[in-house]
Amino acid sequence: MTQDEMKKAAALKALEFIENDTIVGVGTGSTVNHFIDALATIKDKITGAVSSSEESTKRLIAHGIEVFDLNSVDVLDVYVDGADEITEHMAMIKGGGAALTREKIVAAVAHKFICIADSSKQVKLLGDFPLPIEVIPMARSYVAREIVKLGGDPAYRQGVVTDNGNVIIDVHNLEILDPKAMETRINAIVGVVTNGLFALRGADILVLGSSDGVKVIK
Ligand code: 5RP
Repeated sequence: MTQDEMKKAAALKALEFIENDTIVGVGTGSTVNHFIDALATIKDKITGAVSSSEESTKRLIAHGIEVFDLNSVDVLDVYVDGADEITEHMAMIKGGGAALTREKIVAAVAHKFICIADSSKQVKLLGDFPLPIEVIPMARSYVAREIVKLGGDPAYRQGVVTDNGNVIIDVHNLEILDPKAMETRINAIVGVVTNGLFALRGADILVLGSSDGVKVIK
């Protein structure tokens, strides 16, 4: 099975968590694109979706799925999204697609975070994947210097502007032994909008596509 086939298998399995007549929180990325395509097959059974990025919004609308503003939605039963890395404790690094801030907001509203991923995303320790941080543009150099003090090597993601008009710093070689503490510490740097550690609010369910089939881990 290719990596993309594993992503697709996990995305299809996630349909089992979608209840009729609900609004579904939808993440961003290649795994989620498979999920959106699968969601389109049951679009008449759901009320619609809340989206975490312009990219996902376009795909949802192209499938004829209504996209709601999060401010008009009180309850989201599930949020389905991918990850760049995930541990056995369900802490994640996200933001490879630069959508981390809206992803974190939609995830905060949802009762359940369902992470869909291929088996390459499962790790013992977070940090091999460079940690994305969304930063207010004028704070870029200041935040980078603060990250160096934490032991990381910051790299400006050239040419990328987020859906919120900000920039991304990718942090390499950061030792993340305590993901919740590191998430809190980076959030406290002035100029940081969001960091890609999803540990304070991790996943509730991992739907993992692997060469042995799809595993559901709770
Ligand atoms: C986007 C994300 C994605 O969920 C993450 O990058 C995984 O992407 P993919 O499903 O393409 O492997 O956080 O900001």
